[in-house]
Amino acid sequence: MVQKAMEKALNDQINAELYSAYLYLSMAAYLESRNLKGFANWMRVQVMEEQAHAKKFYDFLTARNGRVILSEIKAPPTGWESPLAAFEQVLEHEQLVTGRINDLVNLSVELGDHATNSFLKWFVDEQVEEEATADGIIQSLKLNENNPGGLFLIDKDLAQRTFVPPAGVTL
Ligand code: FEO
Repeated sequence: MVQKAMEKALNDQINAELYSAYLYLSMAAYLESRNLKGFANWMRVQVMEEQAHAKKFYDFLTARNGRVILSEIKAPPTGWESPLAAFEQVLEHEQLVTGRINDLVNLSVELGDHATNSFLKWFVDEQVEEEATADGIIQSLKLNENNPGGLFLIDKDLAQRTFVPPAGVTL
């Protein structure tokens, strides 16, 4: 049985994951409008990843006899100065999410909630990957800032990304 303070924190995290999905869907729409289909594909896969994260929290909370309560998702920004600016916001956002996951881990320690602590380890590792991936794309974009051919090649590369659901998550 999950404690009330943790139930509330996990529900807040479901909202944060769904906001991440909404933010990245908005970025996908912006990138489509710039005719950068590969970049947009990367974002669309990222949307599915965030929805899977939300489902992972949902399933865990339900399994622990907690009650999932969905709340309003705030509107995301709708435009960016450049693809680079969008990806810089991805990294900034992922750093914020990492901070949220760390706060959840701290709360689980405070409450002596070992089950949630163990569950959160997957997210701690996932955030390392999320930040590194965004940073990698930012570095490629910076290297090719004045090279439209380079942008085209990155777009082609990002078009290859496909969604692989995390183990045990059904969307
Ligand atoms: Fe759900 Fe991108 O972290």
